[in-house]
Amino acid sequence: MKISSKLSGEIRIARSKSDVRSWYDSVRSEFPGSVIGFVPTMGALHKGHETLIESASTRCDRVVVSIFVNPTQFGPGEDLDKYPRTFEADLEICKRHGVDLVFSPEPAELYQTGTEALTVIEPPRELIERLCGLSRPGHFCGVATVVAKLFNIVRPDKAYFGEKDFQQLQVVKRMVRDLDIPVEIVPVPTVRDHDGLALSSRNAYLSEEQRAIAPRLQAGLVRIGELVRGQEKLALSEAIDLVRVDLSENGGFNIDYLEVCDCDTLEPLVEAPADRKIVILIAAKLGAVRLIDNLVV
Ligand code: PAF
Repeated sequence: MKISSKLSGEIRIARSKSDVRSWYDSVRSEFPGSVIGFVPTMGALHKGHETLIESASTRCDRVVVSIFVNPTQFGPGEDLDKYPRTFEADLEICKRHGVDLVFSPEPAELYQTGTEALTVIEPPRELIERLCGLSRPGHFCGVATVVAKLFNIVRPDKAYFGEKDFQQLQVVKRMVRDLDIPVEIVPVPTVRDHDGLALSSRNAYLSEEQRAIAPRLQAGLVRIGELVRGQEKLALSEAIDLVRVDLSENGGFNIDYLEVCDCDTLEPLVEAPADRKIVILIAAKLGAVRLIDNLVV
């Protein structure tokens, strides 16, 4: 049951932790038992984020969205300064979806030095030192630390994360389990364009020609699934090699990784067990744009 009391279009913007706390206290005292849903974002909201917000709105009484470009998850030379900041447009999207509270702090509100966390959460190495973590050392410590801080500030009952960032989702789930954080993590399926390309803020950087090629990434994952699980029953390594060669030689992708892993532990697999779900994960660059995608089969 949803507890509804607010006027439509009413939205609060919190810039500080204490703004969030006073909002939280009033919700908890006026509507005891109401369910607070949380969607953490770095802004530049697109259809993928809208789906997360919609999922939260349908199952929660109050929805909080955070918009914070977290400096601690960007490595040196990564696109922190260039990361798109579109607060007004983001706010309109939040209003349209009936979001109750937008938390958008300055870095100094979350980090004493403004740029780095002095106490950090270090997820298990086997989860973070592979796949995206290999080319982005420190990235998942930054993600885990900011997500833990946001959970402590917002104190949601449920938090919504996209399956597109599969490794991030596993890192967050593990942190919540290991640290007994009282929040339910709700995974939301990847939102795709009509041609299969997973939605991402970075798609905006693709040229017209690259945009036309980009959907081959997902098609490659589907092909691996078919080769391994379908009639052909190809060995995993053979299927991966076929697709890798096709994507790099015919598509011009510069592949960072193309791996098949256990869905929960992300342990790399050399064979696809028939009785267990596997996840195929890819990261590849088209020109300067790094794209990621995955498929559970
Ligand atoms: O997925 C993202 O946008 C970010 O990694 C997150 C979860 C908001 C943490 O900064």
